[in-house]
Amino acid sequence: MIISLVGYMGSGKSSVSTILGKKMHWKVVDLDHFIEEKETKSIKEIFATQGEIYFRKAENKALQSVLSSKENIILSTGGGTPIFYNNMKLLNEKSYSFFLSASPVTLAQRLAPGKSHRPLIAHLSDTELTEFVAKHLFERNPFYLEAHHKIDTDLLSNEEVALTIIDWVKNQSHQNRP
Ligand code: S3P
Repeated sequence: MIISLVGYMGSGKSSVSTILGKKMHWKVVDLDHFIEEKETKSIKEIFATQGEIYFRKAENKALQSVLSSKENIILSTGGGTPIFYNNMKLLNEKSYSFFLSASPVTLAQRLAPGKSHRPLIAHLSDTELTEFVAKHLFERNPFYLEAHHKIDTDLLSNEEVALTIIDWVKNQSHQNRP
């Protein structure tokens, strides 16, 4: 079984997946790290040298490869993964998808300190960041909202988000008992 986390940059996908991996003893795959290992370059370098289109193709291939696994996996996707190709459809067919939702203000606050590592927002001032996130989220939300489940994370810690997902998994296994 694969549990996938989708959502905007800064929505907590990586942190929540790490907590889930530890608590559930499942393998954690971070799609960005998976691509970085395959390409032997950081995401920042891939964007700078090969451009976003190349990155999106590599991301689609990486996603197909991870989703073909039969292992128990927590998959943390990139913020743009659901937007390109048929990625969101694939995620919904091959995994149980959870959208970690947060408001633009929360996201901008979480993103401001480390924005230099994220190619899409590195050039923005902190004031520009909130407006950029609000517009970008508006475009992306329809894709994220296709996920099987939505968790509003504004008022939750990463631990609480992880526990919400674990509760769902436990419920599933109870329901599937003969
Ligand atoms: C992106 C988000 C990043 C990474 C790349 C593009 C996006 O992942 O895949 O910089 O388009 O939102 P995180 O959401 O893990 O930062």
